[in-house]
Amino acid sequence: TPAGRYEAENATISRGVVESNHAGYSGTGFVNYDNASGAYVQWTVTAAAGPVTLRLRYANGTTADRPMTITVNGATVATAMSFPGTGAWTTWQTGTLTANLAAGTNTIRATATTANGGPNVDYLEV
Ligand code: GCU
Ligand code: CA
Repeated sequence: TPAGRYEAENATISRGVVESNHAGYSGTGFVNYDNASGAYVQWTVTAAAGPVTLRLRYANGTTADRPMTITVNGATVATAMSFPGTGAWTTWQTGTLTANLAAGTNTIRATATTANGGPNVDYLEV
């Protein structure tokens, strides 16, 4: 496992469940967001200050986008970031964004913005 990988199944989950019924995930499973706006996964990441690339690995077996807003330490860094269909729940892709982290402990949260909830989320890499 590369350094800097934070599995969703080990993160704080609000309105979602850890599952493992769709192959191809890293670790022991992934988070299946409840189909609800406001559902989130939140990671705690220790970092040096400065800009980093965040990679969110996800699967979306539907044809509808599953946007999520990404916050770092409570500040929005991406509003309704797109997580479009990947073709199957077993097809995992990576969404990337850049964010500024603070020195020390950071809280990174991915919150579903529609009633469909988020995609299935495998991990965050920093
Ligand atoms: C299916 C799929 C889940 C997914 C859900 C959804 O139930 O098995 O993994 O999370 O659809 O549409 O959100
Ligand atoms: Ca779901």
